[in-house]
Amino acid sequence: MGVSRGGFSSRMGFILAAAGSAVGLGNIWGFPTQTASNGGAAFVLVYLVLAFCLAYPAFMAELLIGRYGQANAVTSLQKMSRNLWQKRFAFLVGFGGIVCAALILSFYGIIAGWMMSYAIEPLAKMLSLDGLAQWVVTQGTLRNLLFTAVFMFLTIFIISRGVEQGIEKWSKRLMPMLIVLLVSLIVYVTTLEGADQGLKAYLQPDFSRVFDADLLISALGQAFFSLSLGTSVMIIYGSYIAKKENLVTLGAQVTVIDVSIAFLAGLLIIPAMYVAQAQGVAIFAEDGSLISGSGLVFTVLPALFQGMESVGLVVAFAFFVLMSIAALTSSISMLEGPVSYAVERHNVERKKATIAAGIIIFIISVAIVLNIEFLLDFIAILATQYGQPIIAMLCCVFVGWIWHRSEVLKEIQQGNDAVEHSLFWKIWPWYTKFVCPVAIAAVFIHSIL
Ligand code: PHE
Repeated sequence: MGVSRGGFSSRMGFILAAAGSAVGLGNIWGFPTQTASNGGAAFVLVYLVLAFCLAYPAFMAELLIGRYGQANAVTSLQKMSRNLWQKRFAFLVGFGGIVCAALILSFYGIIAGWMMSYAIEPLAKMLSLDGLAQWVVTQGTLRNLLFTAVFMFLTIFIISRGVEQGIEKWSKRLMPMLIVLLVSLIVYVTTLEGADQGLKAYLQPDFSRVFDADLLISALGQAFFSLSLGTSVMIIYGSYIAKKENLVTLGAQVTVIDVSIAFLAGLLIIPAMYVAQAQGVAIFAEDGSLISGSGLVFTVLPALFQGMESVGLVVAFAFFVLMSIAALTSSISMLEGPVSYAVERHNVERKKATIAAGIIIFIISVAIVLNIEFLLDFIAILATQYGQPIIAMLCCVFVGWIWHRSEVLKEIQQGNDAVEHSLFWKIWPWYTKFVCPVAIAAVFIHSIL
C-alpha cells in the first residue's frame, strides 16, 4: 500500500460520478426490457418498492464501508473484521464483488457497443453511406467485436488516468442533457397513435402478478444492478468521498436520480412499443411475448426516430451518443473495482493494472460474442440476478452483524452530526441487520421453490 489515493474534488463530483455509475444501460436498456417482459406496470411497482426499501439501505451500507475503510473493497471490509475468520469472509465478499463487476463489464461492453453502432447509423445515412449504415445495425460477430473493442478501449483509457482526471470529468454535463432529451421524446411519443395503450400497460398494475417469483427476482436484480450494488463499485466510490460529507443525503440523492431516469426511460419506451406495433413493426409474438428480447430497445427506438423523418436522424444520433456516454460512466466504475484492488493490494502500477484487467475482461467479452445466443443471457443473469443481490446482502451482514453499532454511528456522524436523532438512524441499522438480508434471502428461496 502506501499509494497516494485519489478522491472526488467536490460533493458535486461525487454525486455526478456515483450517479454516472448508476445511470446507464441498466436504466435505459435493462429496465424497459425487463418491464416489457415481466408484465408492465406490476413490474414497475415492485421495482420502485424494492429500489427504495432494499436497494437504498444496501447502497448506504456499501458507501459507509468504503468511506470507513478508505480503500478498495477487500481492504475496507477487512478493516471492519476483528478475527481471522471474519477477515477471510471479508476477502470472499470483497473479491466476489470485484469478480462480479468484471463479469458485468464483459457483457455490458457488448451492449454499449450496440449503442455506439446505432449512433453511427444516422451519421452514415446523413453522409449517404448506406452500406455502412446497414452494416452497423446488423447483428454480426465482426461488428460486435469491433464496437466492444472500441468501447473497452475508451473505458481503459479513462480509468488509466485516475479519479479526478478520469471519472469526475466525464460524468459532468451528461445527466441534464439526457433528461432533457428523454422528456422531450416522452412528450412527442404521447402524441402518437397507440401511446395511450402503452401508458396503460406501464402505469396500471395487475396486482395479481406482484408476487410472481420470476417478477420478484428480476425486479430485485434490476434494482441492484441499477444502483451498481454488490460489485465493490459503491464501496470504492464511498472511499473517495470526503469525511465532511453527509452520506445519508448523498445516497438518497443518487438513488432518486437513478430511479427517476429508469422511470422516464420506461415512460418513453413502453408507449413507443405500442406505437411501433400500431405502425406495423412486429413487437409482440402471437402469445403476447416479446419478439426481440434483449434487442427490444433497438427495435422500438429506431422505429420511433424513423417516424420523425429528417429530424429523426439528428435525434437518433444525439440519443445513442448520450447513451454511449452514459454507458461509459458506468463501465469505468466497473473497471475501477479490480484496478484499485490491484493497485492497493499488489502495488501494481495504475496504468498496467488497468490495461491487464481490461484485456482479461475483453477476452471474456469475445467468448460471449462468439456464443451470443447462450452466453449473453447466462452471464447477465448469473452476475445481476444472483451475484449482485447475494454480495450486497453479505455487505449488509457485515454492517449489521460484524461491525459494532457504535462504530457505524461514528462513521455516519461524520458530516452529519444530527444523525443520531434522525428517523434514518432509528430505522436503518435495524433494517440492514434483519430486513435486508431476510428479504433478499426470501426472494431467492421463493424463486427456487
Ligand atoms: N448501474 C449501471 C447501469 O444501470 C450498471 C452497473 C452495474 C455499473 C454494476 C456498475 C456496477 O447501467
